[in-house]
Amino acid sequence: MARRILTVFGTRPEAIKLFPLVHALEGDNRFVSRVCVTGQHRGMLDQVLEIAGIAPGHDLDVMQPDQSLDALTARLLTGIGQVLDVEQPDWVVVQGDTATAMCGALAAYYRKIPVAHVEAGLRSGNIHHPWPEEINRRIIGTMAALHCAPTETAAEALRRENVDPATIRVTGNTVIDALHWVAARIRSRPELAGGLADLEARFAGKRIIGVTSHRRENFGEGMQAIADAIRRIATRGDVALIFPVHLNPNVRSVMQAELSGLDNVALIEPLDYPHFVRLLDICTLMLTDSGGVQEEAPALGKPVLVMRETTERPEGVAAGTARLVGTDAARIVAEATRLLDDAQAYAEMARAHNPFGDGKSARRIADLLAG
Ligand code: UD1
Ligand code: UDP
Repeated sequence: MARRILTVFGTRPEAIKLFPLVHALEGDNRFVSRVCVTGQHRGMLDQVLEIAGIAPGHDLDVMQPDQSLDALTARLLTGIGQVLDVEQPDWVVVQGDTATAMCGALAAYYRKIPVAHVEAGLRSGNIHHPWPEEINRRIIGTMAALHCAPTETAAEALRRENVDPATIRVTGNTVIDALHWVAARIRSRPELAGGLADLEARFAGKRIIGVTSHRRENFGEGMQAIADAIRRIATRGDVALIFPVHLNPNVRSVMQAELSGLDNVALIEPLDYPHFVRLLDICTLMLTDSGGVQEEAPALGKPVLVMRETTERPEGVAAGTARLVGTDAARIVAEATRLLDDAQAYAEMARAHNPFGDGKSARRIADLLAG
């Protein structure tokens, strides 16, 4: 009998990393695939659903402006629980470390439904960085029946926590599947990523620096420092910074107040995935506090300066494509300047590596769910 799989997600990065699995499950008669989106993100989730052609069977639409973590968690837990009672799946699939993923796993556990955790075993070792994600993923790790670790490092972290080794599999990270899928789409339909043409013309002859930032632990002082660093880097005549600003009001208020109207800085709306991949393609380097961007940039050979104190993705740092620079403005400026002015330092970082996967992770995970 076909296995009933309920895939639960709610934010942009979960949608990007789960659409390859949803595609794999939908085209496979070993499964009945159902999708529940929580709508933890609205606009940024819908951008991915549209590109990936996914029409969820359930949409909890939980997003509220600037929602608190406890109110969000409560709504997610009860909402997902009700969907599980209707669907009664054989497996619940969650991804990563968001509130949606943690609540999806907990609601399934309460019903004794096995949980498959995609991107299992990432650990920074610091429960405040990233916050609250380090705890969310540890909680999921205590409940999952199948841990799909993207790398051997992640699998080893789970073994150190005494997770049953028989439940741990190294699958690679589905973000690489997503990247390959969207790159192929852009190759066949370039207009899907053509919307940056005006900015590309405006900044012709300058080196592009892509920026993203949204981490909760950076709100306040950290965001101010990041804005300060961007303003200082933008005083150089030979660079332009393109910054698709996350829809979180705690990010937007600071960035708009600090960076609006600067000649060399384009604050733009969040890009859909093909356009973001185009930005990765045209940029010289990335400044980011994102998790996903730390995985994509090495795959494309783009140096990435990680504006965080710790990372749960040491593979990019070990490969030499990512460097942790914290949220001190002077350090961010110094590290960016070094890469812009020292061709050898740049060349050492700008090498394509694929520590996070080979683009076949979704198929491996589907086979594990069937087994
Ligand atoms: C969430 C995840 C974080 C993940 C990030 C990816 C949690 C606790 N945090 O953080 O792990 O790295 O998503 O981006 O799960 N908003 C909109 N429209 C959107 C999205 C967000 O308006 O499409 C605004 C809303 O006011 C919302 C706020 O952003 O209340 C915060 O969203 P939330 O999902 O709570 O947290 P993020 O900071 O986005
Ligand atoms: N991304 C996107 N548009 C943007 C910024 C990011 O499509 O304007 C993609 C990016 O390629 C990556 C993911 O969103 O796959 C990362 O999401 P985010 O930084 O919000 O979350 P995190 O990965 O830190 O959890």
